[in-house]
Amino acid sequence: MLKAFGKIVGVFPSFWANWMTLLGTVITTISGFSILVSLVVTLVAGGANQYALAVGVLVMPAMFIGGLILTSIGFIYETRRKEGRRDQGPVDNAFREAFRLAMQSRRARGLIIFFALATLVNVVLIGGAVTTALSFMDSPKFCGEFCHTVMQPEYDTYRQSPHSRVKCVQCHIGPGASWAVKAKVDGLRQVWGVMTGNYSTPIPSPVRELRPARDTCQQCHWPSHFLGNRISFFTHFDDDEENSPSVTALMLKVGGMSPKTGKFHGIHWHVSDEVEIRYEALDEKREKVGRVQVYEKGELVREYLPPKEEASGSPVEVRTMDCVDCHNRPTHVFDQSPKLAVDRAMFQGLLNREQPYLHKAAVAVLEAAGGDLERDKAEEHFDAALAAYYEKEFPDTELSAEERAKAADGLAKLYHLNIYPDMKIVWGVHPNHLGHRGEEQDKRGCFRCHNDEHESSDGKVIAMDCDLCHDFLEEEVAPDELPEGLRSLLPEF
Ligand code: HEC
Ligand code: HEC
Ligand code: HEC
Ligand code: HEC
Ligand code: HEC
Repeated sequence: MLKAFGKIVGVFPSFWANWMTLLGTVITTISGFSILVSLVVTLVAGGANQYALAVGVLVMPAMFIGGLILTSIGFIYETRRKEGRRDQGPVDNAFREAFRLAMQSRRARGLIIFFALATLVNVVLIGGAVTTALSFMDSPKFCGEFCHTVMQPEYDTYRQSPHSRVKCVQCHIGPGASWAVKAKVDGLRQVWGVMTGNYSTPIPSPVRELRPARDTCQQCHWPSHFLGNRISFFTHFDDDEENSPSVTALMLKVGGMSPKTGKFHGIHWHVSDEVEIRYEALDEKREKVGRVQVYEKGELVREYLPPKEEASGSPVEVRTMDCVDCHNRPTHVFDQSPKLAVDRAMFQGLLNREQPYLHKAAVAVLEAAGGDLERDKAEEHFDAALAAYYEKEFPDTELSAEERAKAADGLAKLYHLNIYPDMKIVWGVHPNHLGHRGEEQDKRGCFRCHNDEHESSDGKVIAMDCDLCHDFLEEEVAPDELPEGLRSLLPEF
């Protein structure tokens, strides 16, 4: 038994031949073992700690390969050294001679078999580790949680958006090897930036190097798929005692390619196969639009210029309009103002609309909290702020401790979704271009171009007509005054 073991060991190359082989072997063995353990842990425990996972699938394979390389260098060095010592006669055919020798010597045969087996094991281990590493780096968990503070705003909003099951990489990288490689390189630079605390707050938006939407969004939503008209409801609440709701129902002319005529019309006309809208962005945020050009089948058919005083200075970039120029927040959806956040919360039941004056109070304390309040103090803060507000403004209105705690909890949720002091994200930092939101109906969103001021040489303007994009079905009515048909589409009331 012992003898047999001795024979097997004797067959193995001597890993302790010199310090390089020894160190390499130790590193390889330890990291190989760690990879196996972390693969098993991942399989068994699913959502393991992402740092442990990162070490398991990123760092360990690198050490494993490093160890193998070191061992190999050690062996080569050792062989050279031995060859130098032995004074060999000329060999006419080195390969044949080597093979003959190998077949004669038990030790050499053992070596060959050992290396073949070791290589097989290595290929399997490295292959497994690399595949796991790549798919781990593609997971929203890695993108969203690895650089926790930095990505938290985007990750939080993403997780409660209609795209919460679409992977980050499907919008940010898209298919194809060259983009994947570019993204991995950029990604490493970003990880380094986060580790050294060298990153922008907030992360700049628009994302300038974002892949064109035709390669990302259009993998799932194709423009020729017809959307037609869509009814959209907008519910706001008043500042009165009853928090009175009022509903606006719009028929949005979303359009798309008409299945009848094959032509694009309505809002999605901008992304038709046949037209191309190019515009000059006059600022980094693409909020100020300069010259706008309409191309049809590659030919310039019309050019709109902004009022002279606005067009001063050279454009930051010239862009061809795609999905993201309107849908710039398809998944990282922030509320646009405290008022709109409270409206949403009341509509969804996060804030109790039966509590007298809660709308007015909630907007006031949310506005007053600004963007500096520490996130983990939010609940406590809002509880005290609401108590103080009611006492001062509405001393005759009862707000029970229980109601107050519920409202404070709702307000903290709104605060947590929208305000990230560490990343300098506050109300309005990430404006939404879909429509013309915000308190001021000024030159936002669609109105960056559709403002009756961009004019062509033949006197046409990019129109702001209220019925260009939507028809008003009902405007600011109480929910129970809605006609029966529309009422049934709004079951929340
Ligand atoms: C449905 C597509 C989509 C998905 C899924 C998606 N994003 Fe985005 N992301 C966008 C778009 C569009 C922008 C804004 C681009 C612009 O305005 O130029 C953006 C912007 C960003 C920004 C820049 C800052 C900002 O808020 O504008 C970061 C950071 C980001 N995304 C991270 C992520 C992470 C992390 C995930 C996954 C957890 C993710 N994204 C998933 C589409 C997506
Ligand atoms: C991997 C597939 C995929 C990709 C890529 C993708 N989406 Fe989506 N998108 C979806 C799914 C699934 C839904 C949800 C459909 C539903 O709820 O009925 C959705 C919903 C939407 C909606 C409706 C949102 C709402 O409020 O109901 C819009 C608008 C949209 N996507 C735009 C985009 C844009 C813009 C991009 C590119 C930046 C994009 N999508 C990329 C799959 C995708
Ligand atoms: C000119 C601005 C604009 C452009 C460009 C644009 N969209 Fe839209 N899209 C809208 C508006 C506005 C709506 C209606 C939003 C609503 O329902 O509130 C809409 C609706 C949608 C919806 C349906 C949402 C739903 O709730 O059913 C999808 C999906 C969508 N767009 C995808 C895309 C894709 C993909 C592209 C790029 C090929 C694109 N859009 C380009 C403005 C635009
Ligand atoms: C970058 C500039 C730009 C932005 C931003 C923009 N548009 Fe337009 N839009 C145009 C131009 C240019 C035309 C064509 C005017 C013409 O020559 O008739 C147009 C035409 C339209 C039309 C008429 C299409 C048809 O059927 O002929 C609609 C509807 C429309 N836009 C809706 C929107 C909506 C909704 C938004 C915001 C979500 C928006 N646009 C944002 C530039 C823009
Ligand atoms: C270029 C297209 C366009 C034009 C022109 C336009 N709108 Fe809109 N409007 C939109 C879109 C798109 C939305 C829906 C935004 C969304 O889905 O959130 C909207 C939404 C609205 C809403 C509901 C918003 C809310 O929160 O209550 C009102 C009210 C409104 N528009 C009024 C007007 C009035 C008044 C005019 C004329 C001065 C006008 N719009 C012109 C595109 C347009």
